Amino acid sequence: MAAGEPLIGLGVSGGIGAYKAVEVARLLQRRGYAVQAILTRNARRFIGPLTFEAITGRPVITSQWSAGMNSDIEHIALAAGMRALVVAPATANIIGKFANGIADDFLSALFLATRAPLLLAPAMNTVMWQHPAVQDNLARLVARGARIVDPGEGYLACGWVGRGRLAGPDQIADAADRLVRSVDAAPATLTGRRILITAGPTCEDLDPVRFLGNRSSGRMGFALADEAMRRGASVHLVAGPTPVPTPAVSTLTRVRSAAEMHTAVMAASRDVDAVIMSAAVADYTPASGASSAKIEKSGAMTLALERTADILADLGKARCGAPMPVLVGFAAETGPPEGRAAAKLKQKDVDLIVANDLTATGAGFDVETNQVTLVSASGNVPLPVMSKADVASAILDRVEALLSAVPAVRA
Ligand code: CTP
Repeated sequence: MAAGEPLIGLGVSGGIGAYKAVEVARLLQRRGYAVQAILTRNARRFIGPLTFEAITGRPVITSQWSAGMNSDIEHIALAAGMRALVVAPATANIIGKFANGIADDFLSALFLATRAPLLLAPAMNTVMWQHPAVQDNLARLVARGARIVDPGEGYLACGWVGRGRLAGPDQIADAADRLVRSVDAAPATLTGRRILITAGPTCEDLDPVRFLGNRSSGRMGFALADEAMRRGASVHLVAGPTPVPTPAVSTLTRVRSAAEMHTAVMAASRDVDAVIMSAAVADYTPASGASSAKIEKSGAMTLALERTADILADLGKARCGAPMPVLVGFAAETGPPEGRAAAKLKQKDVDLIVANDLTATGAGFDVETNQVTLVSASGNVPLPVMSKADVASAILDRVEALLSAVPAVRA
């Protein structure tokens, strides 16, 4: 390990996903970090310290009572020198201990002894994950600044299917890297600002197996959430169903339908500084709602659809001409979008429309790049093809400029 590499403490608690923490360690090292692994007693039932030692090139901390742990200043130096504490997998138990300040082993004591930012990658049985005790503990930690890499959905080792599987090692290493960089770079131009961002598609169920959806991946909204977090904002992300992993944000609300997104956004928009509607919200939903029984096929079929409520337009109405919250919408067209986007700006009473032509090369769904025109009352600004992260940066620059005219909702 080269001297001067930033150090990340990697806590591993006792879950079946513990073996994946080895890959997290390796990926963190590939991103230029030194890694100090800390294994809880139960983690060692799943994976041996030797594996981490071989990968990280450092002795693994397994107990606060190991010889040397208290006689020298190593553990104090670790608490002071870590740039981040990453816990993957984070079990319900370690989350509970962190939230309640219980320090009965090295990892939980280290958490209390350090000022380094915390990233948790929870993994547990679905029912445990959904338990209010676990969710309350997580909410307390998030309120104190912890970042969460949400568990994924799928088959769990316990035989259940649902949310609870440890996020991918890449996703965890990326989130850790962003966390360290956000603290380091700290442009913090959005500190104290609360930003609500929607992302992904909505699904309008026809029956228990079929739905009307669209090709939005959520990547643009996730890039916006990432960048807003990096700039120090408190970010509430409302995400429709997408297989793309969600970024670590202050609050994550998952929704399925346009109606659910409407309810979540209208409730969350009351005390935010800006709302960015990057979600591809369905414009139509089955008129009679979802059939509770599977629709059997017969001859030709006619589907009666009705319009969904336009969330962005309702946000425009709700602010009654006030400058807050700043409202940003997207307009996706198959053809040059600027004219229609300018009309939408007025119709929906929003501050900025990010217009893109889905047919342009390097723009639209399922690609990492985008090519947009920023349409506002002050005119159209076409941007070149850029990564979605750079587009997010350009949009947030404009949001910052709009916000600079008004005080923070909560200083
Ligand atoms: N939007 C919304 N609620 C809806 C539909 C869309 O808030 N029910 C938001 C989207 O998140 C996006 C913007 O409105 O920010 C898109 O506006 P929309 O009028 O739906 O435009 P397009 O879908 O681009 O185009 P079209 O007018 O052809 O439907």
